[in-house]
Amino acid sequence: MNDFKDLILKRESCRNYSEKRVDTALILQCVEAARLSPSACNSQPWKYYIVNDEENAKKVRQCVQPDGANKFTDKCPAFAIVTEQTATLKPHVAARVHSQKWAENDIGLSVAHYCLQAADLGLGTCIIGMVEEDKMRELLGINDKIRLVIATGYSADENPREKKRKALEEMCEILK
Ligand SMILES: Cc1cc2nc3c(=O)[nH]c(=O)nc-3n(C[C@H](O)[C@H](O)[C@H](O)COP(=O)(O)O)c2cc1C
Repeated sequence: MNDFKDLILKRESCRNYSEKRVDTALILQCVEAARLSPSACNSQPWKYYIVNDEENAKKVRQCVQPDGANKFTDKCPAFAIVTEQTATLKPHVAARVHSQKWAENDIGLSVAHYCLQAADLGLGTCIIGMVEEDKMRELLGINDKIRLVIATGYSADENPREKKRKALEEMCEILK
């Protein structure tokens, strides 16, 4: 499965976008990968809102740059706004836990699917957690809980950066 490892190494947070616009069909392929991701009780507690026009993209940028953060989004042409929906768990599970207990995990997994699919299609993405939620809900007319935004476009960088991560021994222990 070297192809998969290569894809993992290729996916990185893109903070330098080219001018090139993204075909909405490609973004929908990324959403399709997100749609197929696993979730607790198959509850799929997510909805993706896609922005791929300059007027709405400007509004998104205004909401992901608190205190001057994420200025790189000025050059990003498209965004996926990922919202949390009510999770309907299986009755025997729902009897024991709050319905939204795993919703954020589920959303994180689906966002990973989106980003990996994007990388496979030659697109760059950056997951953005710094979102002014109330402002975004108002500007874009979204009534759901906004969890993440995924900046989506073509990278202007030639080569992927080297990954900086904890060593395997530091983040994994084989219990004996
Ligand atoms: C939940 C989450 C929120 C993030 N929020 C931001 C953000 O607001 N701005 C940003 O530039 N990167 C953000 N990132 C990207 C991380 O900084 C990045 O994934 C990490 O540094 C590893 O680098 P890589 O994605 O290039 O491998 C976020 C990532 C995740 C998973």
